[in-house]
Amino acid sequence: MKESYSVSTAAEVLAGEAPSQVELRGWVARKHTVGGLLFALIRDGTGYVQVSARKGASDKAYDAARGATKESAVVVKGNVRDDRRAPGGKEIAAAEFEIVSLAESWPITRTAARSPGFLFDKRHLSIRGPKAIAAMRIRAEVIGAAFDYFRENGFQLISAPTFVQAAVEGGSTLFSVDYFGKKASLSQSAQFYEEAALPALQKVWIFQPAFRAEKSKTAKHLTEFWMIEAEQAFTTQPENMKVQEGLLSKMVQRVLERRQAEMKTLGRTLKQPEIPFTRISYDEARTIAERKGFGFEWGEDLPTEAERAISLTQDSPFFITDYPLSARSFYHMTYLDRPKVTMSADLIAPEGVGELATGGQRIHEYNELMSRIASQDLPTESFTWYLELRKFGMPPHTGFGIGVERCTRWIAGLKHIRSASLFPRTVSRISP
Ligand code: 4AD
Ligand code: MG
Repeated sequence: MKESYSVSTAAEVLAGEAPSQVELRGWVARKHTVGGLLFALIRDGTGYVQVSARKGASDKAYDAARGATKESAVVVKGNVRDDRRAPGGKEIAAAEFEIVSLAESWPITRTAARSPGFLFDKRHLSIRGPKAIAAMRIRAEVIGAAFDYFRENGFQLISAPTFVQAAVEGGSTLFSVDYFGKKASLSQSAQFYEEAALPALQKVWIFQPAFRAEKSKTAKHLTEFWMIEAEQAFTTQPENMKVQEGLLSKMVQRVLERRQAEMKTLGRTLKQPEIPFTRISYDEARTIAERKGFGFEWGEDLPTEAERAISLTQDSPFFITDYPLSARSFYHMTYLDRPKVTMSADLIAPEGVGELATGGQRIHEYNELMSRIASQDLPTESFTWYLELRKFGMPPHTGFGIGVERCTRWIAGLKHIRSASLFPRTVSRISP
């Protein structure tokens, strides 16, 4: 009688949800032999499961398994059995072992793996490692949490162009592109398009790549990253901060609920942050930085070391509020009685990680925005349509942008932001 094997995943096998006879399709992560018994750890898209092949039981399967090099694509058919010594407590005893695509000698040797530069040169291969896989799964959970959070809270998802002409965050970090002979650039932020969508949809959010030509070689800068942005009409800055803490909390909660194994793989422990997050003012933050030996001038944006030092004093995400106008983009609204201080905040991660989000109250009044643009010597013609929005029913409104890789980096406890991206783009890397 012909045996019948049902295609199952590693996760189903480990969870005891697979039938006793399975077909597993995956890649050889590791192999070792003990006498006439060969063990292959097979990875598929859901996890790792051990396969054994015994010499004498099925010589054909045993010989094929012997010939299967690391990272070969294989199809294994066999019986699932409990084995307390196997990772996850289950093992598939191979009756058939087929090499579908034989891998050449794996270039990422133990020694080579110690060089982060090499690992990222070979990122197209190194993403098969357990830590990279764990980081990607956590990242997906972070994004999924955002989709759910915004749906549950009545925000409409929109999209915006990547080719743009107006600089949202200043001209110094724009990537320019030749657009049929016209000068254009890659979008730094979709904020202006979100603002335009407010009278149509009132509460919007967006999830798309953003580009920054920052020559910053730090553990928190990418030149291309994914940004989540949200914007709400008829709101004030305190409400805006509530959305941010709600969103970040949901991201953490989701990862803690669903990605414990991956957090363990990364050696990361994290506790659910309590809402409301602590709010400290820019002035207070400056005092803390000074005390820690990282003083800076009032009006400057937080220097990286100061931000790090302040971040290290907290054990949960927190806001720094009321940034000076000189440290913010032109569209920020200032307090009536403090014209040099904006109604804005950064959401900062603890542990020295630093900024996750920036948000604030936008200027919604035409003349005020016009005079702000003029006072900063910005080219009015670049902002024609953005200005015109203020002529056709623009109420007070707020919004923010939060970096997907920055959130993933913090939640997953990754040392460098590039590990939060499948194929990171940095000042020094545009391949693979
Ligand atoms: O702080 P940023 O520049 O704010 C804005 O772009 C606003 N227009 C967003 C808005 O209000 N709609 O960028 C927002 C977030 C940062 O807090 C950070 O998490 C992330 O985007 N980010 C970067 N992530 C990785 N690499 C970079 N170079 C980043 N620049 C910003
Ligand atoms: Mg910012």
